[in-house]
Amino acid sequence: MTPGVRPLIAGNWKMHGTVAEAAALAGAVRDGAVGGLPADLLVCPTFLHVAGVAALLAGSPVAVGAQDCHAAAKGAHTGDVAAPMLRDAGATHVILGHSERRADHGETDATVRAKAEAAAAAGLTPIVCVGETEAERLAGRAEAVVEAQLAGSLPDGFAGVVAPAGGAGIIAYEPVWAIGTGRTPTEADIAAIHGTIRARLAARFGAAGQGMRILYGGSMKPGNARAILALPNVDGGLVGGASLVAADFLAIARAAG
Ligand code: 13P
Repeated sequence: MTPGVRPLIAGNWKMHGTVAEAAALAGAVRDGAVGGLPADLLVCPTFLHVAGVAALLAGSPVAVGAQDCHAAAKGAHTGDVAAPMLRDAGATHVILGHSERRADHGETDATVRAKAEAAAAAGLTPIVCVGETEAERLAGRAEAVVEAQLAGSLPDGFAGVVAPAGGAGIIAYEPVWAIGTGRTPTEADIAAIHGTIRARLAARFGAAGQGMRILYGGSMKPGNARAILALPNVDGGLVGGASLVAADFLAIARAAG
């Protein structure tokens, strides 16, 4: 954790859930948050479910985000969704540059940067994902890869996003090889790379970079969350599989206290 920074536990629901399942999961998270938790909560359903989940969570402490947006505010882009549409539907955040988008859709750092600019212009808080592959880690290049992704993916305005949710953009460190595998880096490795990210943010954005939230993602579960969330410069989690089970997601949020 970073002193003075309230943790954020974000659920990336990926391509899961019917309308009814998304509503049930959101409702269970909302009900579990009653009475307060030591972290802010965010759920990120598919585009299809953003408006419905946002309506269900209106007035609750659980925020809603999307998993991607287009870099243009509108236009002839069949199948895409623009940041202002997401804001209109009730989203306050958007995940950008997830490794699954980078791999499945060829997104580059430049694409992610343009999307982050569009998100900020629409009043959405971008959550920009970075992380090395296993081959890159084994080659001793994890820190260099992450530093290059940060340099290329973050727009200059990242420190002062005009978001109603407030504050600056968010970084998620997600080692590709830890996603959905049940494997995680050692605590020392997580602390080291989060420290590097903090140093890059502080060098580029000054005091604002000191307070930006840096989330860890990759096989975060109730059983490992407390140890990971206690590490320096780990300001929350971006949770995939465990966010699909409300009890597990809420247990992770409680572990942030
Ligand atoms: P898992 O928690 O399923 O490993 O997924 C992490 C992730 O990709 C979150 O964006």
